[in-house]
Amino acid sequence: MKKFYILFLIAMNGLLVASCNAGVNEVNIIPRPAALQVMPGSFSLTPKTVINVVAGTDELLPACRFFSALVERSLGIPLEITRGKARGKAINLTVDASLGEEAYTLIARKKSVDITAGSARGIFYAFQTLRQLLPAGVESGEAAPSISIQNVAIEDEPRLAYRGMMLDVARHFFPVEDVKTYIDMLALHKINRFHWHLTDDQGWRIEIKKYPRLTEIGSTRPETVIGKNTGNYDGIPHGGFYTREQIQEVVQYAADRFITVIPEIELPGHALAALAAYPELGCTGGPYNVATWWGVFNEVFCAGNEQTFAFLEGVLEEVIPLFPSEYIHIGGDECPKVRWKACRKCQARIKAEGLADEHELQSYFVQRMERFLNARGKKIIGWDEILEGGISKTATVMSWRGTKGGIEAAKLGNRVVMSPNSHAYFDYYQSKDTKNEPYAIGGFVPLSKVYSLDPTEGLDEQEASMIYGAQANLWTEYISDIRHVQYMTLPRMAALAEVAWTPQSLREYNDFLKRAIVLTNRYKSLGYNFATHLFNQDQ
Ligand code: ACM
Ligand code: ZN
Repeated sequence: MKKFYILFLIAMNGLLVASCNAGVNEVNIIPRPAALQVMPGSFSLTPKTVINVVAGTDELLPACRFFSALVERSLGIPLEITRGKARGKAINLTVDASLGEEAYTLIARKKSVDITAGSARGIFYAFQTLRQLLPAGVESGEAAPSISIQNVAIEDEPRLAYRGMMLDVARHFFPVEDVKTYIDMLALHKINRFHWHLTDDQGWRIEIKKYPRLTEIGSTRPETVIGKNTGNYDGIPHGGFYTREQIQEVVQYAADRFITVIPEIELPGHALAALAAYPELGCTGGPYNVATWWGVFNEVFCAGNEQTFAFLEGVLEEVIPLFPSEYIHIGGDECPKVRWKACRKCQARIKAEGLADEHELQSYFVQRMERFLNARGKKIIGWDEILEGGISKTATVMSWRGTKGGIEAAKLGNRVVMSPNSHAYFDYYQSKDTKNEPYAIGGFVPLSKVYSLDPTEGLDEQEASMIYGAQANLWTEYISDIRHVQYMTLPRMAALAEVAWTPQSLREYNDFLKRAIVLTNRYKSLGYNFATHLFNQDQ
């Protein structure tokens, strides 16, 4: 009897809510827009709806095609793309260069959806927002004769220009299809930089025609250590690399989603795979082997040898034309100095250049490569160790050992991307209950911790203006397949997206959590794996 009474109350309550909010459905968008108003009524998206370009060039086409392809499987046909004056039964697109490049407004009303944006990029983000107004089933092509879009008025613009995600394909290789899936995941979250960690001790993953041994020798290791350097090995060769054509394919795929690919070519450390291929570039001359276990290795590029610079310049000459990115990431992290200390050539360089020590030698190395890249129209970005021994005015610092290096760089007037391991290392555990988690490198970065990052915290206005962006990193020592990549990055990527996009004053964790739970329905429909236990964590 009591049970029925409660059910009756719930049913009545449901009716009451439905009648009070007639025609107003809950809207859950991640990252949270800068301004959002939900209005009664809806727009009906049908096979007859057109995407109508009111003002804009063909640069809009990738954004239009993306949205058309998204709804095509549900509606049965792609949406026609037209040009002309704003009209009804249409998604009208207007580029207005007086808006910020990534800014957009989106008004959905009964008659039409009207999007205005500063550029094609902004139009793409408006479409990603519109996407989150569609039922999750659209992502898996659930058939629908028409799709109802809640009426809304949105004004939106990102907080930070650089919103990045890194994938390490050196520790484990991921085929092109997986990389594209990763890029798809980024696009959904309005992430606009894909940092591709292409070289490391355990594998060289990019074809360089001038130095074929990099991939012949450097892309394969004979086996991989089991667990955390246990001394036991799996006996299974692991390898793979991307051809130039594959790199171009990925860069284009990302560009169609308004994502810039930043390649990382590690120097002067994390160089064992390259040294295995070209041992004359190391201080001792080798022989060297592609690393089969994890860590930081003493074998690094010799900074006293002119051949090293000729080699790296030859590599970069081939890398530069493949990537339209303003940046090349040159690594710079974790470069032990033991070999340099004992190397005749390195010591001669220190003397000849009037350097104080090996830290200044590293700085000489990085700044020399920077001059080479600057002369070819590229800027460098490097891990925060590039601050040690002195940094040029023009280098951008990626702060990974907490935010300390980033703060120091911002105070020096250098551009910064905040990527602290305390908040943005997605290879770290997401739960303290590690026994019930896939094996991970350590640490503890739950969803709430990611969300709590404020990239400009503690900086004055001038210093804060040097914070170019925020990024999360996925190192893959213990991650070898895309399902696991997804488990580690979703939904933490949603938190990172909001860190980088949403005005700080609008960020509230519980509000985010509610929307994140809704977003996981979309992940499900997309077939993405994700960490489901995260919604009642912090344990
Ligand atoms: C890093 O995690 N070594 C940048
Ligand atoms: Zn040397």
